[in-house]
Amino acid sequence: MKKRLVVLTGAGMSAESGIATFRGAGGLWNNERVEDVATPEGFHRNPQKVLDFYNKRRKELFDVEPNEGHRILAELEEKFDVRIITQNVDNLHERGGSSNVIHLHGELMKVRSMGGKEEVFELTEDNLEIHVGDKCPKGYQLRPHIVWFGEPVPEIENAVKEVEKADIFLIIGTSMQVYPAAGLINYAPRDIPIYLIDPNQVLLHNDRVQVIQKGASEGMKEFVSLVE
Ligand code: APR
Repeated sequence: MKKRLVVLTGAGMSAESGIATFRGAGGLWNNERVEDVATPEGFHRNPQKVLDFYNKRRKELFDVEPNEGHRILAELEEKFDVRIITQNVDNLHERGGSSNVIHLHGELMKVRSMGGKEEVFELTEDNLEIHVGDKCPKGYQLRPHIVWFGEPVPEIENAVKEVEKADIFLIIGTSMQVYPAAGLINYAPRDIPIYLIDPNQVLLHNDRVQVIQKGASEGMKEFVSLVE
């Protein structure tokens, strides 16, 4: 029976692929106001501005590749039952070969109708943009399938269940500032090892965490040497 490795990732996991983080130097939130592009109120105020913000990020996906950190994580599936819980809305874990990925904050390649059953649709490379007036078959406006600040996080219960069954808990590339994602660490069983990979200092009120102060790719190599 393979040990269960549960991994919580954030924007730093995709940094080496060239996707900007949110709160570091040059971070997305340094150039945009969260309230304008990542809240329901912002969408209501100026829907096309919000749709364009995600249209731009969605198109960027086709200019970047998974990095070595993504690939090492996928390779670990040979030795561990790997369950990834990501805050990222990019598709780099999947493109890097990981097979069990929970997206807590939604997915850039998906959009959903704003009425009825809020059906979800997958966009394709030849149809990457949505605009005001783009509607689902039932006539409701389409919006990004992204969890905005102040909205519920439907996948959090599934994520908690995964962390509660972890044999090893690994955190990569997140400043642990956004809840409920950051609260997942509190569900890790008391007797399991917790590792954190981040090149910078991450404020954690948890002295159990073994810190690997490196970027995702180099950090993953060190992690593998510690657990294999
Ligand atoms: N490798 C690993 N980690 C890195 C790297 C790297 N090469 N470069 C930066 N980091 C770390 C930073 O030090 C920081 O701790 O990645 C973390 C990124 O933190 P944030 O920018 O706050 O991103 P994240 O924690 O994922 O944000 C959580 O906030 O804005 C919302 O919904 C958005 O999912 C996002 C959530």
